Amino acid sequence: MSDKKYKRYLITSALPYANGPIHIGHLAGVYVPADIYARYLRLRGREVVFVGGSDAHGVPIPIAARQQGSTPQQVVDRYHGMIQRSFDELGISFDVYSRTSSAIHHKTAADFFKKLYSEGKFVEKASQQYYDEEAGQFLADRYIVGTCPRCGDGSAYGDQCEKCGSTLNPTDLINPRSTISGSQPVMRETRHWYLPLNDYEPWLKEWILEEHKEWKANVYGQCKSWLDGGLQPRAVSRDLDWGVKVPLPGAEGKVLYVWFDAPIGYISNTIELMPGRWEEFWKRDDTKLVCFIGKDNIVFHCIVFPAMLKAHGGYVLPDNVPANEFLNLENDKISTSRRWAVWLHEYLADFPGKQDVLRYVLCANAPETKDNNFTWRDFQDRNNSELVAIFGNFVNRAMVLAHKYFDGKVPPVGTLADVDRAALAELRSVKPRVEEALEAYRFREALREAMSLARTGNKYLADTEPWKLIKSDEAHVRVILNIALQVAASLAVVMEPFMPFTAAKLRRILKADSDMLPWEALGNPDLLPAGHALGSPELLFEKIEDEAIAAQLQKLELAKKENEQNGAGLPPVK
Ligand code: 2FM
Ligand code: ZN
Repeated sequence: MSDKKYKRYLITSALPYANGPIHIGHLAGVYVPADIYARYLRLRGREVVFVGGSDAHGVPIPIAARQQGSTPQQVVDRYHGMIQRSFDELGISFDVYSRTSSAIHHKTAADFFKKLYSEGKFVEKASQQYYDEEAGQFLADRYIVGTCPRCGDGSAYGDQCEKCGSTLNPTDLINPRSTISGSQPVMRETRHWYLPLNDYEPWLKEWILEEHKEWKANVYGQCKSWLDGGLQPRAVSRDLDWGVKVPLPGAEGKVLYVWFDAPIGYISNTIELMPGRWEEFWKRDDTKLVCFIGKDNIVFHCIVFPAMLKAHGGYVLPDNVPANEFLNLENDKISTSRRWAVWLHEYLADFPGKQDVLRYVLCANAPETKDNNFTWRDFQDRNNSELVAIFGNFVNRAMVLAHKYFDGKVPPVGTLADVDRAALAELRSVKPRVEEALEAYRFREALREAMSLARTGNKYLADTEPWKLIKSDEAHVRVILNIALQVAASLAVVMEPFMPFTAAKLRRILKADSDMLPWEALGNPDLLPAGHALGSPELLFEKIEDEAIAAQLQKLELAKKENEQNGAGLPPVK
């Protein structure tokens, strides 16, 4: 579908569970690309709502509360605040960041369920599930431990053995025990509501496999294998006391399954942001809905949520779900419970003012088509040899020379030589290339194209050597510095979606505000008029020394040791 049709953009990003801090895996997978996309669209003058929020429900929250000796509400309050602050500090430009524990969300999710229920869209079924007689409650899979039937490990969970990685059912466990009371659970009958996904299968096959062949190969492939395998009815409720209560008489002790209520959180948060206008965004087919998620969320966003929206009727469906794969850390899977992660709030404290370095590295190395690896050495290299040595060095040279030779003013341009024309051609070609990549969710490529402008600038100065030329050909030096400063100005434009702090700093250095540097003018050779007074030169980036990297590696080693000694635990809280 052509973009001309779209009048507004609704960008959602997976709602992280409020049971731990944000780490670089979340950022590289979801929030950095979503933010780049949202910022880019705003720069192009499109109407955008970028929705974020914390997922307050699901079994992980009461489990974390139990481990910490607090209540689920306290856990959510603590992590929600922490997550929100750290996103804000990293410049993730949500238009709304709320949480699914809000009253608006509970009402929206309950109303959604009620409509589907009253229209007979659910199937009600009884099944046998484990029940803890001492605690007086049904047990979610994660509340049951026992011996893994595959590898014999004694601490396998009801849904998975973490030792051998097998996916399990609670009834597969040998000698199951409740983690709440330690007692042996018994089987008891319970009733739940199911969304018959099988009924939506023909429609989903047509909608995804035929009409969305442009989705990323990893997303399309996962959908295809689910659809080829045949869909089953999915329970949309659980026996749990934490979550959105099932809004039906006689359903005490039952809540909506977290994966039913969480995506409705995107809607609730939009309602919270714009009570009078949210329907325009969610219900008109000239809205483009794009859902940013990690690969573990694909089935829920491409199959379950669309089926829910279809069952309800009246809502737009995702136009794209550009899910990323996973980011590993130092060649090992990132894990909140094993404390193997780089936490955003700690990064921000350890590297103050370096938000853009992290944004840059995570985008340049994003797991867009396959799992990728973050290493602290690579982080250091990219900072020192790309941001400092290319981007920062170029801008600084241009600024220092303009001050040295032309009193800090943009010199007028004169007769062009071939080398100047070539630089201008590069300058002009950046905009269409970056735009094409961003519109297609190829963020790494877009950043590479943007950085190629800094490379062009750097090489242009290195090739023309204005510091040597000044004695023999001042006229050409004027041309060179004019062009170099125009390149710097375009860098301030093109870097805004990727590195907004640096772009702002560069605008300050150039004494050019965003009105002087609109996206539409990106690549123009006359962004800065001749005679324009520049600010003082200032370094855009600074070198990261070996000691800083060694300290981070040591921190990881320590976490690993602690984990080996004390077992998996909870991530640090600030
Ligand atoms: O995987 C997760 O962290 C989930 N809390 C994501 C939910 S996304 C959406 F549905 F809200
Ligand atoms: Zn096992």
